[in-house]
Amino acid sequence: MTTFHTTPARRVLCLAGSLRRDSWNRRLLQAAAAQAPATLQLDVYDALGSVPLFDEDLERDEAAGPAGVQALRAALAAADGLLIATPEYNHAMPGVLKNALDWLSRDSPVGDVLAQKPVAVLGASSGPWGTRLAQASLRQVLHACGALVMPAPTLFMANAASRFDADGMLTDLAAVQSLQDFVLAFECWMARLAPPLARPEPLAAARR
Ligand SMILES: Cc1cc2nc3c(=O)[nH]c(=O)nc-3n(C[C@H](O)[C@H](O)[C@H](O)COP(=O)(O)O)c2cc1C
Repeated sequence: MTTFHTTPARRVLCLAGSLRRDSWNRRLLQAAAAQAPATLQLDVYDALGSVPLFDEDLERDEAAGPAGVQALRAALAAADGLLIATPEYNHAMPGVLKNALDWLSRDSPVGDVLAQKPVAVLGASSGPWGTRLAQASLRQVLHACGALVMPAPTLFMANAASRFDADGMLTDLAAVQSLQDFVLAFECWMARLAPPLARPEPLAAARR
């Protein structure tokens, strides 16, 4: 009798550090999700705007935090890895992203969801520098949170407007290749760090 083993896909939560409707960084993540191999499931989070400004009083009022924080924390807790695409604002990551990380860095009833989490960082900018300084600031914060940040490869997308078409699809072939390489490298990084995936019992064994 033939026995089939199915390996569940690793789940990656994708966060764009921009609330802008036509954000290049969100489009970059959508492109990554669209081209990901079947062994990876990339989910682009679209509710970062529901995360309130961090306030320790809010934590004191409700240990699990406000609803927007609970939703984000639950999404990250359920993921095997975190992929962050950051814009650069004034040579650093945007406040909306730092604010979300400050919430996620706190212990909670579902645990410390950032500690030991495999994370990869990339970013897109409309300018010529490709978010180098924003990514440096983001890495520093992630290290403080105990996240396991993929050291290489890096992906700094400069002049983002020239790499997408009018419908927001990533059409620059070199960028598509870099993104594919980046996502595959992150899959390897997660495999190195994450516990082995639970494999279902072979059907034949289960019937015995
Ligand atoms: C407040 C502000 C500050 C910015 N500072 C920088 C900067 O320091 N370096 C840079 O390359 N781009 C900077 N930019 C341009 C952003 O990188 C650009 O708007 C980018 O497209 C934003 O990302 P998004 O498309 O994902 O929203 C800045 C934009 C804003 C609104």
